[in-house]
Amino acid sequence: MPINKQQVRTALTHVMHPEMEKDLVTLDMIEDLIVQDSFITFTIDLPEKNSQLESHLKEKCEEAIRTYVDEGAVLDVTTAVNISKFRDREDGRGEEQAFPGQGHRKKKKRQKDEGEEELLSGVKNVIAVASGKGGVGKSTVAVNLACGLARTGAKVGLLDTDIYGPSIPTMMDTHERPNITTQKKLIPLKKYGIRFLSMGLLVDPDQAMIWRGPMVTSAVKQFMEEVEWGELDYLVLDLPPGTGDIQLTLVQTVPLTGAVIVSTPQTVALDDARKGVAMFKKVNVPVLGLVENMAYFIPEDRPGKKYHIFGKHGARDLAERIGANFLGEIPLEQAVRESGDAGKPIVLEEGLESRSAQAFVELSNNVIQQLAIRNQSKDPTEKIDIKIRP
Ligand SMILES: Nc1ncnc2c1ncn2[C@@H]1O[C@H](COP(=O)(O)OP(=O)(O)O)[C@@H](O)[C@H]1O
Ligand SMILES: [Mg+2]
Repeated sequence: MPINKQQVRTALTHVMHPEMEKDLVTLDMIEDLIVQDSFITFTIDLPEKNSQLESHLKEKCEEAIRTYVDEGAVLDVTTAVNISKFRDREDGRGEEQAFPGQGHRKKKKRQKDEGEEELLSGVKNVIAVASGKGGVGKSTVAVNLACGLARTGAKVGLLDTDIYGPSIPTMMDTHERPNITTQKKLIPLKKYGIRFLSMGLLVDPDQAMIWRGPMVTSAVKQFMEEVEWGELDYLVLDLPPGTGDIQLTLVQTVPLTGAVIVSTPQTVALDDARKGVAMFKKVNVPVLGLVENMAYFIPEDRPGKKYHIFGKHGARDLAERIGANFLGEIPLEQAVRESGDAGKPIVLEEGLESRSAQAFVELSNNVIQQLAIRNQSKDPTEKIDIKIRP
């Protein structure tokens, strides 16, 4: 008999929280439970970091599953700090506003007819990271933004939709094929506390090269529908570069909360960034702001010098000219490139010593702020149903 979720939940009611004197299920500490054959994975949510408690609970959960469900189960139990979930409970605010900007999508979901499942309905904010031009650091920004958001304790997903040039597997140092649930849904991979998937793990980029736009769009849409993202505060999408048909269709297919546009300060990149902004405006997706990547270079051995290799303040000035927000500037640093190649995003660096790591934290905070403003002032983005041409 295959294992089912209920059996696992029941087993976990035998695991008591040592201080709260209630079991983990009653305390609503079990999240993202996925069961496939004898493979069981879930997360234990905790209100704060406590390594001793984490390993105690993990051990007890594994013990309970082996005792009450299946001795030979393959387990993947992780712990996550979810400050907001427990904070809200303490001050009696219930499910309200755990993270800025949530709520709107939930409200919309309730207005929908029963039974009509909305695309990405468990996701509170969907953020597209886009650029007009390739090679400006879009994937680098997407990965570090996702990890920066996760640092706040939020639940974050990252989806690489750049089917022609997927780089997230390398930047996250994971090339496994994702598992599939019994309902045939893809289980996102997990690393650094974020859930992620890349089309590059499923589609051969050489093969995708010859796909026409509609094929890419329908693949991405299918990807969205068939992934078990669970509940997420933020889903970051790394879009393919450019503002052509594919991008236009993509941004209309997915219910985007907002877009972040990445550009280097040089004119050729800025021209394309402007087209990116125009594209999002055209389809009524709010632009959260512009990021200037490779904004300046400070040599390690000459910290007093600052070089503007690709031009000075290009994206900042463009933002001002077109009335968009400026979300921050990321310096050109060797460590950014190295950490990308090594699959360890620089924003996770301990102590955040580098300027770039600090810049990414600032960027994430600015994005959170802009999302909050956007969700206060505007209705959710309406998705336009596009008929995919045969
Ligand atoms: N701020 C930066 N400093 C140094 N290298 C960077 C920076 N941003 C991006 N890079 C490097 O530039 C290359 C292209 O970046 P990537 O994020 O893949 O761009 P895109 O997704 O726009 O094509 C990568 O090798 C990346 O490590
Ligand atoms: Mg890329």
